[in-house]
Amino acid sequence: MLHLKVHHLGYLVKKRDAAKKAFEALGYAVESDWVRDEARGIDICFMTMDSLRVELVCPFTKDSDVSSLLSRIKNSPYHICYETPSIADEMPLLRAEGYLPIKESAPAPACGGRNVAFFLHPALGMIELLELSCP
Ligand code: NI
Repeated sequence: MLHLKVHHLGYLVKKRDAAKKAFEALGYAVESDWVRDEARGIDICFMTMDSLRVELVCPFTKDSDVSSLLSRIKNSPYHICYETPSIADEMPLLRAEGYLPIKESAPAPACGGRNVAFFLHPALGMIELLELSCP
C-alpha cells in the first residue's frame, strides 16, 4: 500500500493578488506568502482554513509549466499533493497502480527545497508527491 498523507490542494489562479484576497475573504489565512519558483515559472502562496491547505499557483511567464493548463481550465483546483517519506520508494507501487511520472522529481523552492514529483493516472488525473526529507 502507498504511504501517503494529504499535504495540499493545488489551485491555479490567473491574478495572484486578487486570488489571495478572495481566499482571505472566505476565511483562509496565509501560511507562507508568495515564493517565486524560477524553474517552473510560477509564484506560489500557501493558505489554510480548518484542515485544508491550498496552494495558489500563478504563472509569472507565458512559458510556465502550467500556462497552457490555466488557459484551458481557468481558475481551478488541479492537483492534490501527498506527503511521502520517499518518492523513490513509492515508485514501484505507483507504477503498479497505473500512475505515470510526468517529470523527474525536482526540488520545490516553495516547499523548503524538498523534492516534488507529478504523476498522471488515467482515472484520477494529476497528483503531486512531496518528499518529507530534504534532498
Ligand atoms: Ni502542489
